[in-house]
Amino acid sequence: TAQNQAGSPETRGSVDLPYRPRRLRTSPIMRAHVRETHLHPSQLILPVFVREGAQEPRAISSMPGVVQHSMDSLKHAATEAVELGLGGFMIFGVPTTLDATGSGLVAEDGVLNQALRAVRAEVGDDILVMADLCLDEFTDHGHCGVLDDRGRVDNDATLALYAQAAVAQAEAGAHVLGPSGMMDGQVGVIRTALDEAGFIDTSVLAYSVKYASAFYGPFREAVDSSLTGDRKTYQMDPANRREAMRELELDLDEGADMVMVKPAMSYLDMVREVADHSPVPVSAYQISGEYSMIQAAAANGWIDRRAAIQESLLSIRRAGADTVLTYFATEAARWWREENGVA
Ligand code: PBG
Repeated sequence: TAQNQAGSPETRGSVDLPYRPRRLRTSPIMRAHVRETHLHPSQLILPVFVREGAQEPRAISSMPGVVQHSMDSLKHAATEAVELGLGGFMIFGVPTTLDATGSGLVAEDGVLNQALRAVRAEVGDDILVMADLCLDEFTDHGHCGVLDDRGRVDNDATLALYAQAAVAQAEAGAHVLGPSGMMDGQVGVIRTALDEAGFIDTSVLAYSVKYASAFYGPFREAVDSSLTGDRKTYQMDPANRREAMRELELDLDEGADMVMVKPAMSYLDMVREVADHSPVPVSAYQISGEYSMIQAAAANGWIDRRAAIQESLLSIRRAGADTVLTYFATEAARWWREENGVA
């Protein structure tokens, strides 16, 4: 598709322009040569759900293509993630019994801790095994923390449980813990608990800038959430920007190894802002609603699915995210291999 034959002159333009930006877009090789942002499988993290006691994977109707795994299908997915060269595998547990304090999160035989053990035994150090560290999947009221006697989410009582969960998850083999509950001080208590238990190398990927978003909708089905109401007393107001810098600073002071912005696509400005200020790697989470919107539009034939997915992930990278959590990770990695001649 070269525009001009070797040795033959350019067509004379009829307008005298000082510069023509289209020159750097003339051919695939030129475009590849000057491309600024790349997406590599090692930058992608696949979030997965595992359901307690499930014999078979179960479909999640609001997230076509995503399932609640059985322990067996989870191990299979982890092996596949390793083969595709993904960077990480973030596990969310879906327990069958819930209680007021979410005791299944800490319990050694809780579904998430069991899954961490099983996956770690399967993949060793070939991929980063990550654990969602939050109570909402395990509490009967669906909140990310325990409630006080007036029904409010009790920050400091919750921290004590997060500290115990951190040690339990590290013991189960998680390389990286992802505290997603937006309690004040969560990174600090987790870091201290890990260090005191001797897990100095277990990392914390802090959900530093997490907004109270309507786009978490499908996730509620994915984890069979029992939440009524919202999380506006702990997650950030979508209207706020400056507050994100405060959250970032606090998490860094508390020892965050990596920080996250979530959601991603409606918050690319915040990804950029955090990336410009963070001395540690920045992650962004393309969440359930963002996934489902693309799936729905593609299923209707309204957008080119592959191109739209790749564009969305590249845009998150361009905004400044070093790594991206996405339910499209496996597929995106396959496409990368295809396009880069990796068998
Ligand atoms: C809380 C948590 C949520 C998600 C990840 N961790 C739900 C929430 O905050 O309401 C959402 C992820 C997604 O929507 O894909 N444990």
